[in-house]
Amino acid sequence: MSQNSVPPPVNPESLLQADRSKRVIVVSDDDGFRATVRGLFPELDVQFFRRLAPAVDIAAALVPDVVLLDVDLALGDAGGIQAAIGHFLRLSPSIKVIAVVAEGQREHASSALQSGASDFYHLPVEPVVLPMLVRRALRVRELEQENQALRGAQPIETSGSGILGRSAAMQSVLRIVEKVSGTDATVVLLGESGSGKELVARALHRQSLRSAQPFCAINCAAIPEALLESELFGHERGAFTGAVRQSLGRFELAAGGTVFLDEIGEMPLVLQAKLLRVVQERVIERVGGRVGIPIDIRIVCATHRDLPALVAAQAFREDLFYRLSQMTIRIPPLRERDGDVTLLARFFLRESVRRHSSRVCGFAPDAMEAMHRYHWPGNVRELQNRVETAVIMADGAWIGALELGLEGTVGGADFSLRHARSAAERKALDRALAVASGNLSRASALLGVSRPTLYDLLSKHAMRATDFVVG
Ligand SMILES: Nc1ncnc2c1ncn2[C@@H]1O[C@H](COP(=O)(O)OP(=O)(O)OP(=O)(O)O)[C@@H](O)[C@H]1O
Ligand SMILES: [Mg+2]
Repeated sequence: MSQNSVPPPVNPESLLQADRSKRVIVVSDDDGFRATVRGLFPELDVQFFRRLAPAVDIAAALVPDVVLLDVDLALGDAGGIQAAIGHFLRLSPSIKVIAVVAEGQREHASSALQSGASDFYHLPVEPVVLPMLVRRALRVRELEQENQALRGAQPIETSGSGILGRSAAMQSVLRIVEKVSGTDATVVLLGESGSGKELVARALHRQSLRSAQPFCAINCAAIPEALLESELFGHERGAFTGAVRQSLGRFELAAGGTVFLDEIGEMPLVLQAKLLRVVQERVIERVGGRVGIPIDIRIVCATHRDLPALVAAQAFREDLFYRLSQMTIRIPPLRERDGDVTLLARFFLRESVRRHSSRVCGFAPDAMEAMHRYHWPGNVRELQNRVETAVIMADGAWIGALELGLEGTVGGADFSLRHARSAAERKALDRALAVASGNLSRASALLGVSRPTLYDLLSKHAMRATDFVVG
């Protein structure tokens, strides 16, 4: 719907709810339009961009509620209306994109709507209508969020699993986890190091009927071969030198619950034969024992190795492989999860900032770019560690690629003077605003620039003085 149709009645109460926690991004290279819009929303946090790329970067770090997108710029700068709108909607499908269409270009309005824009606006600016349109979009977004909270529907996480992911790849993993957790099927989790195998194993247990019973994890690669058997199966007194008393193994300790066999690919062949009996008959024998002891457990295994290749190389028993892989869940590497890097990075940032009582506000655009380019060999664990280290080491309010240790990944190392000047400028702004606690007059005095110049600099570096206000 646009300003050309009859707008629904707007409740004045709802207008008052719009405040500076609501973020609007304006992307337009039309100086006149930006100047007019600047004065229209004193109560909102509005950021202005002349180009699409930096607007998308900042939107990835600080998801906006509404984007006012100049369609002319989208056509020139981003290779099309659909591509430009897609950049924002991929970050969060609930962002409201309002397409700003020049006079006499009505056909662009319908392509914008077809590409996912929630509304459109025909220039020239009418100071009464445009704010109404933006506030209505904000209200709709608010209602959608309330509705989602009421339904308890978290689109990015299954109930209490702690597994974050809005990419199609992770959504499909989450759906499988939900389905499989209600069964007793033996599950093999395949995935690179740090991709979240243990997290998924725990979620499978937590969401199962066995959740009130123990979850026992054992890393087959971390325990010496000689000890692994007794760790898993337990031993009788006198079974070997040093076995001064009877001891229960993980299979018995997990009674009624789940045993998580991590790095199953490293299990020695002798133990694989004993494990096969457990899987087939649900019976164990303690080391040095003579009787079979029935057990009631569910088995979940994980490995970063290629199990079929191990089978082919006769390092893993084929019969065990087939028994274990009743259900196989492949956890995709982080680089294959579109959009999840941003989501996880922001989540880990919030957590680290809280834990370390840090004043870090968010990621600078170069950090977002670097994180998107990087291939994350250590997957989610690596991302978590890099963000945590960056929060601890950060001098300023914004984490850049440098703090993440990823400066080389931004379009190759940038040695240009322009880049160096821009980095120095950002650092100076950062320090002045921190010293002035976000007070613009003091900051501009410290920097020796006028307030309008300071505004332009803040906009250029996508910084907000309010982030530096103490208390
Ligand atoms: N989708 C996710 N959402 C939130 N946190 C995650 C996600 N995936 C992994 N993590 C976190 O990343 C870290 C590594 O995950 P986890 O230990 O489950 O990986 P793994 O595949 O078992 O790694 P490894 O192969 O090294 O044992 C953990 O701190 C975990 O909480
Ligand atoms: Mg693990």
